[in-house]
Amino acid sequence: MQTLAGKKILLGISGGIAAYKCAELTRRLIERGAQVQVVMTKAAKEFITPLTMQAVSGRPVADSLLDPSAEASMSHIESAKWADLVLLAPATADLIARVAAGMGNDLLSTLILATDAPVAVSPAMNQQMYRNIATQENIQTLARRGMMIWGPGAGEQACGDVGPGRMLEPMELVAHCEAFFAPKPLAGKSIVLTAGPTREAIDPVRFISNHSSGKMGFALADQAKRLGADVTLISGPVSLATPAGVTRINVESAEQMYQAAMEHAPSHDVFIGCAAVADYRPANIAEQKIKKTADNDAMTISMVKNPDIVASVAALETARPFTVGFAAETQNVAQYAKSKLENKRLDMICANDVSVEGLGFNSNDNMITVYWESGEQSLTLASKDEIAQQILLLISDKLSTN
Ligand code: PMT
Repeated sequence: MQTLAGKKILLGISGGIAAYKCAELTRRLIERGAQVQVVMTKAAKEFITPLTMQAVSGRPVADSLLDPSAEASMSHIESAKWADLVLLAPATADLIARVAAGMGNDLLSTLILATDAPVAVSPAMNQQMYRNIATQENIQTLARRGMMIWGPGAGEQACGDVGPGRMLEPMELVAHCEAFFAPKPLAGKSIVLTAGPTREAIDPVRFISNHSSGKMGFALADQAKRLGADVTLISGPVSLATPAGVTRINVESAEQMYQAAMEHAPSHDVFIGCAAVADYRPANIAEQKIKKTADNDAMTISMVKNPDIVASVAALETARPFTVGFAAETQNVAQYAKSKLENKRLDMICANDVSVEGLGFNSNDNMITVYWESGEQSLTLASKDEIAQQILLLISDKLSTN
């Protein structure tokens, strides 16, 4: 689907070395059917010429607030109203600061004040400038006002430094634009989900856990947000960044995850249990580190059952959300998954065969079969992002037919 067809994108270029990528960005947007109006700051013209941008966009470039001929063809207020999306790329520290301060001291900053179109900001600057508290606070201000912050990437910079501050690559920005304009089948829906492992303490320094990385659950949270849902992510200990726009609640143990899930599930439309929750926890947590003794070659830990989170949510008598579980199986995948669907009274279950190398735990890809009472669907090998999107589209289908 050409989600950019006919979309009007006002591309605001400020003066950073990454401006050279804007010619490629404009071409890629236009070949997908978008119309691109380029607006450049004075400094931007030092890095890429208006002639180049005019040639690739097919439109005269706007660069001056006080140019009567430009105002006669499309005034800055008309340009601000024309746009379906304003994309600031590269957005330098200076432009970000001026926008945060609400200044209108050139054409681009004035347009941003005058538009009611959504604004996306793609920061690009030296890593130290990006880390500077002033820049960070300015970016947070823009995000708080509802502007979308796309990037930056990290890596080697034009100045020789290494770190965060690289403008996203043209195709990454195109993907953001496509996602922004894509249909939002989960708009108006709220989803709470669990992700990652739990840790069950043995003593102050040891715990029982598993190999879940959180990647599958975080992909679901990210894709749900992109499909328009309001997303709350209850996460066990993982080292993943929170997807943009997602509310994250950190927990450690199954009992903490249970408390958080039971608190939030009733106020959400959908609950997805993707976490690898420990079925059992040590019956007692030693107050001090357990010492190795010379006379004991073995040690026994007595375990008690943890609450079943997804089953408890599915058993809610009032405000029960549409409840989706996962099944991580190493054998008889279909049979075990179907019995979990029934025993836990779930609306849907996503079964993954975690005995297959490179799939399931701590992998980037997955392969899943989704089961519900009257049907099933296989999702063939794909990245966890793609699998997550397909699961969410199935959930969206079920919500609309329920
Ligand atoms: O995190 P990754 O590295 O990306 O790996 C992803 C994954 C393999 C962890 C994920 O795809 C997955 O399969 N998650 C569920 C893992 C699991 O615990 O499956 P299970 O078959 O043991 O549990 C069945 C369901 O009951 C799951 O929805 C689980 O969240 C839930 N459960 C289990 C025990 C418990 N006490 N409470 C629960 O809610």
